[in-house]
Amino acid sequence: MAAVLDRVLLTREEPFSNLTEYLSEGGFQALKKALTMTPLEVIYEIKKAHLRGRGGAGFPTGIKWEGVYKKTHDDHGLPALKYLVCNASEGEPGTYKDRYLIKKNPYTLLEGMAIASYAIGTANAIICIKEIFKREIAMLQHAIKECEDAGYIGSNAMSSGRDLPIEIAFGPDSYLLGEDRAMLEVIEGKPAWPRAKGIIPVDFGLWAQPTVVNNVETLSTVPHILLKGADWFRSIGTADSPGTMIFTLVGDVNKPGMYELPLGTSLKTLIEVYGGGVGADRQLQAVFSGPTNAVIPASKIDTPLDFGSMRALPSGLGSGGFIVYDHTACVLRAGLNFSRFLAIESCGQCTSCKTGTGRITRRLQLLEEGLGTIQDTMAILEDCQHIKGQGRCFLITEEAVEIGSIFYNFPDVIAEHIEFGCLKTRPLPLPKIKDFDEATHTFIFDEKYYERSFAEGRYILSK
Ligand SMILES: Cc1cc2nc3c(=O)[nH]c(=O)nc-3n(C[C@H](O)[C@H](O)[C@H](O)COP(=O)(O)O)c2cc1C
Ligand code: SF4
Repeated sequence: MAAVLDRVLLTREEPFSNLTEYLSEGGFQALKKALTMTPLEVIYEIKKAHLRGRGGAGFPTGIKWEGVYKKTHDDHGLPALKYLVCNASEGEPGTYKDRYLIKKNPYTLLEGMAIASYAIGTANAIICIKEIFKREIAMLQHAIKECEDAGYIGSNAMSSGRDLPIEIAFGPDSYLLGEDRAMLEVIEGKPAWPRAKGIIPVDFGLWAQPTVVNNVETLSTVPHILLKGADWFRSIGTADSPGTMIFTLVGDVNKPGMYELPLGTSLKTLIEVYGGGVGADRQLQAVFSGPTNAVIPASKIDTPLDFGSMRALPSGLGSGGFIVYDHTACVLRAGLNFSRFLAIESCGQCTSCKTGTGRITRRLQLLEEGLGTIQDTMAILEDCQHIKGQGRCFLITEEAVEIGSIFYNFPDVIAEHIEFGCLKTRPLPLPKIKDFDEATHTFIFDEKYYERSFAEGRYILSK
């Protein structure tokens, strides 16, 4: 087996095909160790490691766990029945790392969940995943059964006297399924609509009980920290963002792919060294960290990939998905793609979000078609200002930040569209990833996404 030493998660190229293989490489030793520690000792090790969530916000995992651990009673004064939810929704364009991790090694996720369950004090752990991710679901079901049958999870896990079962819940193919509070609604049998602002799962989570929601990659990192220690983990990455991250690199690079790198590696290294740079005779123009954060112009690619540096740009690390465009791509069309995606995915609970994303999308489309005016650009910028920070969830702010940043960083492109319409007619598919062919470094996109959304009536605005 080819071992890869400078990684935490993808330490070998081949996927683990069964539990025996995982055990032969130290599998479940971290849970064994955790069970000799007190729950608080486990939590303090994760806090000391300064593990930050890999789902988008970068919130410190240990603090979240401690919050739920300390909640002995629910809001009604009754003994708290806590929950752990693993967010395996992965709906952001340009991101594939969670499905990749599950395919490579579902066992570390299960071990991480068992450790987290033990630490926060729950026997209710659920993986929430999109129903359409059939292959990943089958792999998880198989791995859960193997681990249960061998006594590593489930009742009396590893003869510890503790029950650490893991279940799977299925959700719709909706971007909002990944929003943690919407995910809890779905598990409760309701639509993927985010709960009101200010209601956080640690206080009021699944069935109104204290709940930890963590991303697949976050939970998969936990066993490595427990086994090798917080100091080892902090020796990788930066002080602000220790450890590694699995970056999804798509778009105009010679070698798109999945790359696990220490946090703090520069965006330039990711694109040029790992992605092989943009094509010959092409210049890098812009990089998008999904539809969530401000666009990164080519002049800023020396920025280290860590939470603090990316925030200071200003942009964001998001879930580590980067979409690269060279000078032949129309950045306004890239923005239109994201805006249309967000308008479709907006649940409509907040009027400013559904109408705002729809209005901005329609005006961007006019600009693309050469029918837009200076008044349209002013109206887009005004809308971005007005909708930012409104609404129950962050989706509405994603729209404002993403589109506003394109106007701010590429004023010439906007001016050109007002005068001539779009001069770069190259098609740009929405990079919503369905699959990845590792042998050829090719991503397969969900090409029918818009068609399906229109057919389902999810995008109702006419031109
Ligand atoms: C619109 C929206 C979509 C999101 N989608 C995902 C997702 O697909 N996967 C994920 O882990 N987090 C997603 N998040 C972030 C979650 O709300 C939450 O912060 C995360 O699951 C917490 O896990 P972590 O602390 O391990 O990062 C999304 C957030 C928003 C606002
Ligand atoms: S901000 Fe948008 S997506 Fe979020 S809850 Fe409101 S309408 Fe739904």
